[in-house]
Amino acid sequence: MRTLDWEDGAIVAIDQCVLPHQESVLRLRTVEELIAAIQRLAIRGAPALGVAGAFGVALAARQRTQGGTFDEAAVRADAERLASARPTAVNLRWGVGQALAALSDGPDAVLAAARQVMAEDDRMNRQAAADAADLITKLCPDRPLRLLTHCNAGALATAGTRGTALGAVFELAERGRVEYVIVDETRPLLQGARLTSWELRRAGIPHRLAVDSAAASLMRRGLVDCVVVGADRITANGDVANKIGTYGLAVSAAHHGIPMIVVAPESTVDEDLAAGELIEVEERDADEVRRVLGMPVAPETAEAFNPAFDVTPAALITAVVTEARIMGPRTVAGGNAG
Ligand code: MRU
Repeated sequence: MRTLDWEDGAIVAIDQCVLPHQESVLRLRTVEELIAAIQRLAIRGAPALGVAGAFGVALAARQRTQGGTFDEAAVRADAERLASARPTAVNLRWGVGQALAALSDGPDAVLAAARQVMAEDDRMNRQAAADAADLITKLCPDRPLRLLTHCNAGALATAGTRGTALGAVFELAERGRVEYVIVDETRPLLQGARLTSWELRRAGIPHRLAVDSAAASLMRRGLVDCVVVGADRITANGDVANKIGTYGLAVSAAHHGIPMIVVAPESTVDEDLAAGELIEVEERDADEVRRVLGMPVAPETAEAFNPAFDVTPAALITAVVTEARIMGPRTVAGGNAG
């Protein structure tokens, strides 16, 4: 099944909190249920949040319809709460906006607009993934590649069947161009270990998990040809917000002269924000750091930082690839140490 879909008046979604050990499906019938699912990361990943936002407005339009008329102000209030459920991935607000644009034509039109967002999501991500695969092939040595990825930018992070950064990996694997993928486990919530390795195993692509802190040294040892990641927001100047740890990967990749490629749909580009420092970075519960999968690993009262994302300056990114354009490739700032 798709990560996310609409069925009989409800959003059906794979519960990403319990993967890889349970493959369980959520059936969300209200905006409240959807917001809760988004905030606990049962539905996550920027493109998937865009589609969820659009379907959420369809849920609101149905909930707020009585006797053939709907309460437009109430739908707009629901839509605003939904759009603010997570602040960093601009796709969520974008998807809500796409569906709201059809509101004056009624709930069925809103649902049709949301279905359109879902169909486009798959098309856009497939195109971006194919173009990124072409670019990586040009930039990297002519042999099967060792790719490093962070978090999960696969089918689970979209409403499609392919993903963005992991979509490029799938594409390269189909062309016989992948030796192995290094999967950062991605603390604190382990999207790499739990989700990316699950997707790669299902696709039969060789991969090895690594703790996040291993990445720089794997680069230094010459075990990484290219870093490929997704994005949650790309500002007008090309700065990129993505899962915490991405910035460190970009610094290391620049230092070692390794291409750093970002793959995302255009809906992740926020032309209204001039630069990355204007992006709101979601700060999550400290317990996510103090615990691993619910198990305490630090004193219960330890203070913790838990920013869910970081911002990588454009100068450290070799190229950003969307379905419509390639920003780059540029020579990144940094040394070329061995
Ligand atoms: O907190 P998450 O799991 O929603 O964070 C997801 C990421 O950072 C992904 O890399 C990003 O959304 C791109 S997904 C194609």
